[in-house]
Amino acid sequence: MASPAPQPQLRDSASALRWTSNPVLDVRHLTMRFGGLVAVNDLTFQAGRGDITALIGPNGAGKTTVFNCITGFYKPTEGMIRLEKTDGSRLLLERLPGHSINWKAKVARTFQNIRLFSGMTVLENLLVAQHNPLMLASGFTFLGVLGAGSYRRAEREAIDRATAWLEKVKLIDRADDPAGDLPYGAQRRLEIARAMCTEPVLLCLDEPAAGLNPRESLELNELLLSIRQDHGTSILLIEHDMSVVMEISDHVVVLDYGTKISDGTPREVKDDPRVIAAYLGVDDDEVEKVEAEVEQVQAEVGV
Ligand SMILES: Nc1ncnc2c1ncn2[C@@H]1O[C@H](COP(=O)(O)OP(=O)(O)OP(=O)(O)O)[C@@H](O)[C@H]1O
Ligand SMILES: [Mg+2]
Repeated sequence: MASPAPQPQLRDSASALRWTSNPVLDVRHLTMRFGGLVAVNDLTFQAGRGDITALIGPNGAGKTTVFNCITGFYKPTEGMIRLEKTDGSRLLLERLPGHSINWKAKVARTFQNIRLFSGMTVLENLLVAQHNPLMLASGFTFLGVLGAGSYRRAEREAIDRATAWLEKVKLIDRADDPAGDLPYGAQRRLEIARAMCTEPVLLCLDEPAAGLNPRESLELNELLLSIRQDHGTSILLIEHDMSVVMEISDHVVVLDYGTKISDGTPREVKDDPRVIAAYLGVDDDEVEKVEAEVEQVQAEVGV
């Protein structure tokens, strides 16, 4: 049998203590295999509470697969994904049924390829996202149809929450339009609003800036920063747009071929020769050369 590929030696990040001491998400030795393909290979990382943590890497690196494991779309082949809730309780996400991860663990996500109910109105999309509290208020029977007070109250709250989010993402004027009629950037904002209507502890965003123009990208940065600040939501972000990653992330984890190759602050990661090599497609010998060159330059400038 072939021996496993050697794991790269990662430098310890001086800032690592920040996200390891108070993590909202603790991923240990996560592996996901599809037949012979190892999409995620022994991945360990933490996302700090209240942090914006970016998961980056070249195409096919395994980023979406990590999200699919965290949000219950895939059962990991190996490993542990622990969510630490605000009340101190802990949940092992890999053991929860996929459909209860949003409701029980308060983990919400958006998709790389937008998944809205395009025939429903913008407002209806946000109400569907809140079906769990509404079902509870209906007693899982006909209480809603009969107009019971508890159901009417829950429905009012759901509409108020949806309206507040539509205002926040500047879509209130389109509330009654079919979601499929919205321009692309607006659909991306609606997906974020839909996820936020479930009041998540952890919001997982898969390439939210994809297809946005520079102005929309800037607005997205502001929206994510305000979600973190006003709601205390921790954010895990997959993104190729480095202006978003470098601007708003507290912590960056880099994957290449399913393996973590770097983990640190945006600045630490940006200067990491392994990351530069992965993005430019340089082989291991070249990495050593780049590393030596970086060290030489650092020695010359005295850092
Ligand atoms: N359900 C699946 N069955 C088989 N292979 C899969 C499956 N899902 C993902 N893969 C493979 O796993 C690898 C990682 O895919 P993934 O979509 O996680 O990458 P990614 O980092 O999100 O890439 P991108 O930046 O292009 O979105 C790829 O080789 C992909 O083909
Ligand atoms: Mg992806």
